[in-house]
Amino acid sequence: MLQGSKNWHRSPAVACAALLMAVASLILAFSTDSWAQDEAASPEHIMSHGFDCFSCHAIDEEVVGPAWITVANRYHHDRSKTAYLAAKIRDGSVGDFGKVPMPAHKDMSEKLATYLANYILSLNGSLEGAPKEYKYKSLDGKEVTAAFPVFETNQGHQVVTKDIFGGFEKYNSYCFRCHGFDAVGGEYAPDLRKSLDNGMSKHQFFVASMEGRSSKGMPGWAGFFDADELNQVYEYVDARALNLIPPGRPPSRGD
Ligand code: HEC
Ligand code: HEC
Repeated sequence: MLQGSKNWHRSPAVACAALLMAVASLILAFSTDSWAQDEAASPEHIMSHGFDCFSCHAIDEEVVGPAWITVANRYHHDRSKTAYLAAKIRDGSVGDFGKVPMPAHKDMSEKLATYLANYILSLNGSLEGAPKEYKYKSLDGKEVTAAFPVFETNQGHQVVTKDIFGGFEKYNSYCFRCHGFDAVGGEYAPDLRKSLDNGMSKHQFFVASMEGRSSKGMPGWAGFFDADELNQVYEYVDARALNLIPPGRPPSRGD
């Protein structure tokens, strides 16, 4: 489940830039640091070793924690921040970006934390472009705006995007038993469409989902889902909240 390597980036321009930089930092890592060969060859590789960063972070978007590009932009003028950030990664952090704490990663070597801190700092300046808007007609004929694509065309047929379909599958595997099939709400847990309609932001949705509310019976999904996987669930629930897709299995590319 924990795979940071799958489409972290939802904007192609940012994806390209970040990918180039990932490659650049990879080359740097290989040439300057011998551990790279045996310990971890890339951030993707690091995530596949079981670190949970992408439960809470995305490269270009605030999730539970700040976008890594935002972190990079804050400190980019100051490379001496590598040690500061590496210590934060290992010891945890709170208050630099907000009230939500970042857990410690004591089992991570200093070398790996330094590598990650350098990688994150290398991402500075790559956040660009205004937030996107996608206009659609809802099932009851209203003009609605989504912040992400919901539909695409496949061989002349309108189908939902891979992300929406992935969200449908994940939601109806992991969330339905409390929040109801197809996000209609359950006996013990709220209708998540209403939560979004009532103004819950994407950030709040991510914080509630990743942290959970154990006293209320809501499990935390950090470490199980990465940010991209939870983003799919979010997009699916939001597309349902916008009344763009009916209950049931939406038409997909795989049909
Ligand atoms: C449970 C959620 C969570 C996980 C898991 C997580 N982070 Fe964070 N991260 C946060 C939050 C929240 C903040 C903001 C903390 C603050 O305000 O000081 C943050 C901040 C940061 C910062 C900036 C620190 C600062 O003080 O400027 C870096 C760098 C960072 N995270 C890297 C990582 C890396 C690398 C991993 C994986 C090894 C990781 N994070 C895992 C939630 C998380
Ligand atoms: C075992 C039952 C259970 C499962 C499974 C579950 N939830 Fe929840 N969830 C709850 C309960 C109960 C609450 C209400 C907590 C409260 O009252 O604060 C909740 C609240 C939430 C909220 C906050 C809603 C609001 O209006 O404050 C979000 C977001 C959420 N869940 C997302 C998810 C997602 C995404 C999944 C699947 C990955 C999921 N939940 C799976 C029980 C569950």
